[in-house]
Amino acid sequence: MTKLRVQCFSISLDGYGAGASQSVENPLGVGGEQLHDWFVPTSTFQRMVGKQGGTTGVDDDFAARGIANIGAWILGRNMFGPIRGEWPDDAWKGWWGDNPPYHTDVFVLTHHPRASIRMEGDTTFHFVTDGIHAALERARTAAKGRDVRLGGGVSTIQQYLRAGLVDEMHVAIAPILLGSGEHLFAGIDVTKLGYRCVEHVPTSLATHIVLKK
Ligand SMILES: NC(=O)c1ccc[n+]([C@@H]2O[C@H](COP(=O)([O-])OP(=O)(O)OC[C@H]3O[C@@H](n4cnc5c(N)ncnc54)[C@H](OP(=O)(O)O)[C@@H]3O)[C@@H](O)[C@H]2O)c1
Repeated sequence: MTKLRVQCFSISLDGYGAGASQSVENPLGVGGEQLHDWFVPTSTFQRMVGKQGGTTGVDDDFAARGIANIGAWILGRNMFGPIRGEWPDDAWKGWWGDNPPYHTDVFVLTHHPRASIRMEGDTTFHFVTDGIHAALERARTAAKGRDVRLGGGVSTIQQYLRAGLVDEMHVAIAPILLGSGEHLFAGIDVTKLGYRCVEHVPTSLATHIVLKK
């Protein structure tokens, strides 16, 4: 059965998945780039961006699990880019260049309609304006039996958590403090929602946590 999976979602020790003031200069908010210090050096990430080498070991194992058996993605509009409000034109096509690392259909939640964008490497961005259930239904169909990865950001994950739709969640806790920004679990009682920690593995760069119902 197709699962909805959060993978490789990094938070600070004080719970933030992005720092404050997201912008073109700081896509993850101020200080937020450090959240991915465990992920970027891994050989899995290096391969995703067309490079060779990189680290192996626990961090890389989690990075690799994050892309295994994924047939579609769901993102929030803020993760897709820095533009807010109406799209001024069709110029912005995501942070990731002509050949984004998804290679599947990607459903971007937004209130602002826009035509789908087909990119190189079989990534197609679709803009979904009729809510989280519609996005999940479309993603499940596109995934053709594989799982759907819920990429983020925070607001998007929170909505699927509250709706009880997230089957599995890998969170990497980075040893940094951000102080402000987008707090992953703010106002969400994950125990009432039925989640428990089924795995926790520390490395020198992060503590990996897996939550399941
Ligand atoms: N730490 C990590 O591992 C990680 C991973 C991924 C992303 N991030 C970061 O997280 C940040 C983004 O998170 P975020 O919480 O600010 O935003 P987000 O979840 O990426 O996007 C929120 C926006 O998406 C649209 N949206 C969300 N739900 C919707 C719905 N049900 N119906 C219609 N539109 C909907 C709305 O935009 P409009 O109203 O403008 O259309 C909303 O403001 C970025 O800095 C990103 O880099 C971090």
